Amino acid sequence: MGFKIGLLGLGTVGTGTAQILLSPQGRHPLIQELEIYRVGVRDISKTRDVDISLDILTTDLEAIATDSNKNILVELIGGLELARTLILKAIEHGKHIVTANKVVISRYGLEIFAAANEKGVYVMLEAAVGGGIPVIQPLKGSLGVNRIHSVIGIVNGTTNYILARMQQEGADLADVLADAQRLGYAEAYPSADVEGLDAKDQIAILASLAFSGLINLEDIHCGGIRQVTAADIAYTDKLDFVIKLLAIAKRDSNNTNSTIEQLQLRVHPALVPKNHPLASINDVYNAILVEGDPIRQVMFFGPGAGSGPTASAVVSDIMSIVAILKTETEPVPHPLPSYTHQHYCETAPITELVTRFYTRFMTKDILVS
Ligand code: HSE
Repeated sequence: MGFKIGLLGLGTVGTGTAQILLSPQGRHPLIQELEIYRVGVRDISKTRDVDISLDILTTDLEAIATDSNKNILVELIGGLELARTLILKAIEHGKHIVTANKVVISRYGLEIFAAANEKGVYVMLEAAVGGGIPVIQPLKGSLGVNRIHSVIGIVNGTTNYILARMQQEGADLADVLADAQRLGYAEAYPSADVEGLDAKDQIAILASLAFSGLINLEDIHCGGIRQVTAADIAYTDKLDFVIKLLAIAKRDSNNTNSTIEQLQLRVHPALVPKNHPLASINDVYNAILVEGDPIRQVMFFGPGAGSGPTASAVVSDIMSIVAILKTETEPVPHPLPSYTHQHYCETAPITELVTRFYTRFMTKDILVS
């Protein structure tokens, strides 16, 4: 065993991560070199779906973040303040970070990456966007040469699952949401999914990478799917559209008043033509369509939530760090390109958005003679 992993959280994604790390057979050989040495949980006595020795479980999360073990801290507890504090403490103690925490990164990315740069450690977040879909590393690396025009995603599995089932079965939102929670897709507080906040955090991270600037979360217009009814779905179906919760970041070509290039940043339900590539993304799947020059269009597609898929992204980040640690003789600050932007992107006000809208009115059917 070579590299030590401290794991914070043994919920849906933490369990999936431990399951992968504890069954290396048939996977990349590097996984055999990883050892979970400590796992921080809220309740040690809870029954779990993974065979973790009780000896390595602890409720002292801070001890894992601050112990002298220098390898990798995997933060999967979710939430905001505690996660942020533990990440910063672990960085301070020279640990590399792997996190799935979009809430923390979209709010405190600047602080966290500044601290990591100073310490010469990596912060990896593939699992924070699009669940199991590899999109962070491609945006940072393979697509980095492109001038990105737009990033449009279905990035929330819960709402996509709900909308798809409403579309397919005429089901009600509340009934399907309960299923999404049972399947482990929805956040602990599912309003973060249903009201678009989860998608908002993710598009902030994607936009920051795509447009090389910091994103102010308050600049992102956000509307969720609570207002979408079975009637809307039935009418739009007749018009050959499907309703999807889209997270959109694009260069704004409409606003001719501004001399500074602005971005449109918005999350809301949108009518998507049935022949559009995003229209056929159903259930808990996510997809992110990136348009840029010279790549034109590339779409990333895969499971956007759930234990195994999200854990796949977590472990891929652990492997990326370990692959570098194995070859490094000197610490190289961030060979894995990171969030190091210094300026905030300009956002076009939503009130100036020029686009097409779907509206539905209730009217009295009166015959005027
Ligand atoms: N609640 C999220 C989703 C899970 O539904 O996409 C992944 O973080």
